[in-house]
Amino acid sequence: MYQELLEPIHSFLKARTPDAWIEEAKKPENLSVILRDHMLCELKAAQSALFLIRKYAVDKESAIQLNEWIKPYELYAYRREGSLETLRGKSNASKQITPKQGCDYGQDLIDKMVLLIKEELHHFYQVMELMEKKGVTYEPIEAGRYAKGLIKHVKTYEPDALVDKLIIGAFIEARSCERFAKLAPFLEEDMEKFYVSLLRSEARHYQDYLELAEQIAGKDISERVEHFAQVEAELITSIDADFKFHSGMPKLEN
Ligand SMILES: [Fe+2]
Ligand SMILES: [Fe+2]
Repeated sequence: MYQELLEPIHSFLKARTPDAWIEEAKKPENLSVILRDHMLCELKAAQSALFLIRKYAVDKESAIQLNEWIKPYELYAYRREGSLETLRGKSNASKQITPKQGCDYGQDLIDKMVLLIKEELHHFYQVMELMEKKGVTYEPIEAGRYAKGLIKHVKTYEPDALVDKLIIGAFIEARSCERFAKLAPFLEEDMEKFYVSLLRSEARHYQDYLELAEQIAGKDISERVEHFAQVEAELITSIDADFKFHSGMPKLEN
């Protein structure tokens, strides 16, 4: 059913998630790590989109509104303040986000990113609900090497830095989508359904990022895409002792 969503993603990514990672991820003792890390990944996805439009595209008043939008989620993730009750419906809050003057790609970047932030915050809330259902207590968890390993390749000058960040966004979304799909059949039915339900929006997020990167670069970006594809595949297939949602090949214990 979702094979057509996955086809472009599988050809975009240079490597599939190793079976050994799936073996780890389906172990009941790793459910807590998967869910807690997944929740934080949703927040980070929203944050990176928000940082992008705050830095590159919006006016001052809109930047304040964006900060207020995400704050309750950050308070929950970093200080455990708030609850399912206090966060209910917050992802949908209506906002008036306007581009700053002279930013010609501004409106398009804003439109795609605001929708993406809304969806990621909603996913965050859905993971919270699932954690409560599964009796998993939320505790913060340190980030793995994955995103850092990609970000360190970002160019130091504009507009190439922005284009690189958008390409990285495309890879993180595509990988999440590939991983949700591969892991879903091995999970309990409620989690399987949830992971399958995420595929459509994550597949669109990957495309949105890639389109924005092409549009803003205004030139062929296939070399940069190829570079990040290799870096990303290496992070996914090389040994990684730290098991997380985006970690590499698990270190097998003998
Ligand atoms: Fe998401
Ligand atoms: Fe996403």
